[in-house]
Amino acid sequence: MQTKMLSSDESGLTRASELLSGGGIVAFPTETVYGLGCDARNDLAVAHIFEAKRRPHFNPLIVHLDSKETAQSYVNWTDAAERLAEAFWPGPLTLVLPVREGSGVSSLVTANLPTLAVRVPKHPIAVALLQKFGGPVAAPSANLSGKISPTNAPHVASGLKGRIDAIVEGGACGVGVESTILGLKNVPTLLRPGGIPQEAIEAALGEPIALHQPGDALTAPGQMSSHYAPSAPLRQNVTDIRPGEILLGFGPVLGATLNLSEAGDLGEAAANLFLHLHELDTLATGTIAVSPIPNHGLGRAINDRLARAAKPRP
Ligand code: TXA
Ligand code: MG
Repeated sequence: MQTKMLSSDESGLTRASELLSGGGIVAFPTETVYGLGCDARNDLAVAHIFEAKRRPHFNPLIVHLDSKETAQSYVNWTDAAERLAEAFWPGPLTLVLPVREGSGVSSLVTANLPTLAVRVPKHPIAVALLQKFGGPVAAPSANLSGKISPTNAPHVASGLKGRIDAIVEGGACGVGVESTILGLKNVPTLLRPGGIPQEAIEAALGEPIALHQPGDALTAPGQMSSHYAPSAPLRQNVTDIRPGEILLGFGPVLGATLNLSEAGDLGEAAANLFLHLHELDTLATGTIAVSPIPNHGLGRAINDRLARAAKPRP
């Protein structure tokens, strides 16, 4: 399959939308990472996404919608959902709610779960594409399953060129880590730390949220332990580099090959995380060592991704 590179102007987005309508699979930028989108109602198109990414079928997809009102027609809404959508949509927060009967969404998208993950993205290109297409877009991150997520169009091309219909080019993603996923079927539960910090969610809800327990496989089927993996091994919380290692720094450290944020800014570090990991992966002959990252705010999402990247590969 030849992968078309599309611009994000009117004609590029019209072409992308036509491809989606015809059952194609198209990568596009969001504020978090690039997504690989298709019509969430089209079983064959959804199956092609799983095939292109080599993604296990038990791992459900997030459906991207153009507004809160549209999202409400796919899931059973709650007071907590209302408060969070008002506070953080459009933006990097995904809500998992009971799927509405007759939603029309393919059962491959939900992996047959009774819930659906919904998100209203903020990136102007994603918004324009959703509006032009006028339907639900199922979109996982646009990388091969288990690999580092893409934060620019060349990252997408390096993993998926020849396997997908098109890539809408839209520069670098501003947030740089995936959306925070919050389960709202029962008590609000953090299923994946991400672009909206836990502290901000708790402030909006006025109560603490439950934290996902490791091993609680069914609530977050995609949170497999080895994930976001560079080819090189990775070691976290490093203050002493060993021979043969290259350092991904954070803050004012010496000897770093690349630094996530010399100023120690967690937002800047999140935006650089996958970009730097992609680059170091091409340079590393040994292990990628990473400086300690404070475990609050966006630091939780960064540490989560690094911990998965550091896990032994299957
Ligand atoms: O920022 C993001 O969320 C990006 C952009 C493209 O929107 N998307 C993304 O998708 O990260 P993906 O497929 O790489 O990760 C989605 C995660 C998976 O871990 C999956 O298991 C979980 O969402 N998920 C999807 N539906 C779910 C559901 N019904 N219940 C629990 N977890 C769900
Ligand atoms: Mg992913």
